[in-house]
Formats: sequence, structure tokens, C-alpha cells
Amino acid sequence: MSQFYAACPPGLEELVAQELRSLGCAGLSPRTGDRDSDSEGGGVSVEGDLETLYRLNLHLRTASRVLARLGEFYAASFAELHQQSSRLEWERYLNPGGAVRLNVTCHKSRLYHSEAVAERVLKGIAQRLGKTSPALRANEQPEARAQLVIVRLVKDRCTISVDASGELLHRRGYRLAGAKAPLRENLAAALLLACGWETGAPLLDPFCGSGTIAIEAALLAGGIPPGRNRRFAFMDWRDYDAALWERVRQSSLDEHTPVTARIQASDRDAGAVQTARENARRAGVLDVIEFSQRALSAVEPPAGPGWVVTNPPFGVRVSQRKDLRNLYAQLGNVLRRRCPGWQAAVLGNDPRLFSQIGFPLKTALATQSGGLNVQLRIGKAP
Ligand SMILES: C[S@@+](CC[C@H](N)C(=O)[O-])C[C@H]1O[C@@H](n2cnc3c(N)ncnc32)[C@H](O)[C@@H]1O
Repeated sequence: MSQFYAACPPGLEELVAQELRSLGCAGLSPRTGDRDSDSEGGGVSVEGDLETLYRLNLHLRTASRVLARLGEFYAASFAELHQQSSRLEWERYLNPGGAVRLNVTCHKSRLYHSEAVAERVLKGIAQRLGKTSPALRANEQPEARAQLVIVRLVKDRCTISVDASGELLHRRGYRLAGAKAPLRENLAAALLLACGWETGAPLLDPFCGSGTIAIEAALLAGGIPPGRNRRFAFMDWRDYDAALWERVRQSSLDEHTPVTARIQASDRDAGAVQTARENARRAGVLDVIEFSQRALSAVEPPAGPGWVVTNPPFGVRVSQRKDLRNLYAQLGNVLRRRCPGWQAAVLGNDPRLFSQIGFPLKTALATQSGGLNVQLRIGKAP
């Protein structure tokens, strides 16, 4: 059994835990994101074997990456850190001399200088593998593939993990061209799970932009695993079992269910709708989403009740506030007149804008998107 960690944006831990439970995982232990000690947000630890690791990467919709725990030890001096690092089984994950990218965070520890910590871990790797690995900085976009290694020092306890995902899991591979302010795909999936959308019920996104919410809804309703068409960092590991991966992937494809829900997505911007259609085609769900170019005022929802799950424009500049107040008030009117009895789930960042909607909404999720604190508020349209 190995220890894995499904990392996620802050606030999504419980949704990741729910997903893990439905994948049949045991030994779950959620950790809430702590911005002081962890730049990655929170996540959930889980035990499992190689097949578990492959299934998590293939199926998790709300996580940002899956890490494999390589070691955990006490290190209050550089000598200890170097020595302990050199004892880890790096050969399972790294080719001797292969590039690595180190992400180091130190919190309430005697070793607090992250660059110096990184240097000692690299020395440990070189000692173990007999060859020095070139290191890229954590924020450097690697030209060639580099294995990400995550080092966390909290109160002198060092945990070292390797990233099994590679590109972040929200990069499903279907979204090449972005419209204005696209949502990350894992956040779109989180909105759908958090608002309790029943996957057979109608769904409408009247501000669809690049179509992320509707596409994630179609993938969810169809039981289509988000990672089926991409590669993962674990495919470069020495213990990569290509036959096992293919078996895991193929058995998930056999579990597809037909999408029965009416999923409508619209936007007033013709370019956004075109992009959304192309994204849906790449995701293999174009035929189950009804896209149209139209303003909010012109939406024609199917027979309901259903769910409106949406992400209207956010206010960042003061000059936009009046327009946005009007837009949110209009959203409230459209919901009351055309979607009575529907559940509304709206992602935004401004309590004054939410209040323009004009009926009670409660916070179902609080997280971050594009560097902003955002909330998903839900309520029933009267
Ligand atoms: C924040 S973006 C939505 C992003 C989307 N969730 C995505 O992942 O790409 C808001 C969208 O609302 C659209 N929009 C703004 N005002 C609108 C209106 N009155 N009617 C319809 N769409 C509108 C914009 O064109 C923009 O695409």
C-alpha cells in the first residue's frame, strides 16, 4: 500500500473526499488548505496501490493533482535533511540525471530557507542515483518534462512527495482556446457537485463563455472520466504499467451512460459560443449540449424545474459596478419569471452583486478562482 494525496484548491476538500469515497477508496484523511503553510490549498490523503493511483488521476474531477508520498521524516538540520533525502527510493520515479522541478515550503521549522532546503534534497537525490539532476524552479515552465517534487517542512517534519499528474488535472485536454475569464474545469465540476445537480435534470448556463460548466456537466452525466485523453507524469516512472493503465482506462470507458438531461448553454458573445462548441466537440459531448448565441434576456429554458449553474462576469473595476448590478438584477428577474422553482447556483465574488438577484441565496462553497476569493451561492428561484 502506498500513500497518495489528492491536492485541491482551498474549500474543495470535502468534494474531493466525496469523489474518493465513490471511487471506493479507504483510509481518507482530509487536510484543509492553510495558506501560511501550503501554497497548494488543501487535499485528501488516501491509501492504495498502483491501480488506485491510476484511477484517481483518471477519474477525479475536482482535484488539482495527485501526489505519491515518498517519505516523511524529522529534519532540523541540513545534514539530517541531506542524509534522509538520500535514503528515499528516488529510483522509482526519477531517471538518473533526469530534470526535476522542486516546490519547497517551510513553515515553523528550523530549516526555513527554501532554496537551501531544495539544494540539500537535490544533493540527496544525486547521492542516491549517482548522477546530478538539473533543477528547474517551481514556477519555471519546463521545456522538457521535469518531475515535480514537493517538499513540505512543517514544525521540522519533512514530507517529500512526487507529482503523479504532470499537467494539472483541470487540463483535461479539451479546452485549447479560452474565452474571457474561463473557469478552471475542476472548479466547474465542483460547482455542479456542490449545488446537488441531479444528472438527469435540466441544466442551463446563460453565461457559458467557453462552455466549461456545460461540458463538465455532460462529462459528469455521461460518466465520462475527465482524464481519459491525456498523459500523466506517472507514465514516465520506472514502475509504469502500461497494460494496467490501459485496463483501468478501458474499463472506465465501458461504464459510459447515455446523457438524458437537457443541457443548455448560451452567451451573448458569438466568439465565446463558437469556442464553447469547439471545446465540447473535443470533449466528445457536442451532441448532448444545446449551444446558442443569445443574451440573458432571451434565454428559453426547457421545461423544468432544473438547475441554473453559472458564472456571470465578476466585478474587478469600479467603473463596471453599475452595469454588473443591473446584470445581476436582470439574472434575478429571468430566474423568477422563466425558471420558477429551479435551483440557482451562482459563482461570484461580490456580496453586493449577489444581493441584486433578489431572493435568498446561501453559500455552498468558498474557494479561489483567478486569484480572487469566490463563493458559490445557491437558492431556489421563487
Ligand atoms: C465570467 S465569463 C463565463 C466564463 C465561463 N464560465 C467559462 O468557463 O468560460 C462571463 C460570460 O458572460 C457573458 N455575458 C456578459 N453579459 C451577458 C449577457 N447580458 N447575456 C449573455 N451573456 C453575457 C460574457 O460574454 C462572458 O462570456
